[in-house]
Amino acid sequence: MTQSLASDITTGPNQGDFDYSQKRIDDASSQLQVPLKTIDLSVGFSHSTILNEISLSFPKGTITALVGPTGCGKSTFLRTLNRMNDHVRGFWHKGSVVLDDVNIYDKSVDPLVLRRNVGMVFQRPNPFPMSIKDNVVSGVKAHKLAKRKDLLAIAESQLKEVGLYDAIADRMDDSPFRLSGGQQQLLCLARALAVGPEVLLLDEPTASLDPVSTSSVESLISALVPKLTIVIVTHNLAQARRIAQHAAFFFNGELVEHGLAAQVLEDPEHETTAQFVTGRMG
Ligand SMILES: Nc1ncnc2c1ncn2[C@@H]1O[C@H](COP(=O)(O)OP(=O)(O)O)[C@@H](O)[C@H]1O
Ligand SMILES: [Mg+2]
Repeated sequence: MTQSLASDITTGPNQGDFDYSQKRIDDASSQLQVPLKTIDLSVGFSHSTILNEISLSFPKGTITALVGPTGCGKSTFLRTLNRMNDHVRGFWHKGSVVLDDVNIYDKSVDPLVLRRNVGMVFQRPNPFPMSIKDNVVSGVKAHKLAKRKDLLAIAESQLKEVGLYDAIADRMDDSPFRLSGGQQQLLCLARALAVGPEVLLLDEPTASLDPVSTSSVESLISALVPKLTIVIVTHNLAQARRIAQHAAFFFNGELVEHGLAAQVLEDPEHETTAQFVTGRMG
């Protein structure tokens, strides 16, 4: 992770009795495997429970697709992974969300630093009302990650990475709102990537896009691994099959099945999953 969430996790009262160098090595290798996981995570709003004891790991450098019928809790789950629900009325959670061995709901964790490490892109592109260039570097500026004189170069290279630069090279100072929906979504991805996240959360990022833009966004997402760990909610099973290595099927707030995408989406263990992936239940 680019910035430690909690500065004091490797210090403790018994440090002298414990081989911390070994522990760090162990931690480092386990981080390589699973930077992000939930443990017995239950989530709800006021008196209702939306998600029930979800334990799910996201292997580093892979894409995990979260699938399931509308209303089963996929977005709520995803938003819980970078504390986007914190200010939603009545929100509560039990259990933990662990990023690099730190529970992200610990008091020591700054949600803004967390969201830099765990970026998010939504179904509808949401460019900010500022120039294309300023959109890309807004997080870079907010977190003071670069000098002012370097911002243009950072914006350009980030736009090149998402494949948008050639189309907008002479419009860096223009409003983003005249871009097509697909271009706006690529811009939002560039903005999320510019701060160097470790994990990227995508909530149906192509649901509002045409097939050509969808294809560009899928290619970009696929190119981001293994550098990034990606969790994508999609109602598009064909998309999950195209891009995800792992898949998790949610139903009525329960995690029914999780594993390799080929297994969960093609040859699931559970009957409910089978009904969903074969289109017998939607
Ligand atoms: N802010 C909220 N307050 C109360 N209930 C909510 C809130 N957000 C979502 N829900 C409920 O949580 C359930 C799961 O919603 P959601 O996570 O959006 O499902 P999905 O993304 O799988 O379609 C739904 O029944 C929805 O009405
Ligand atoms: Mg949703």
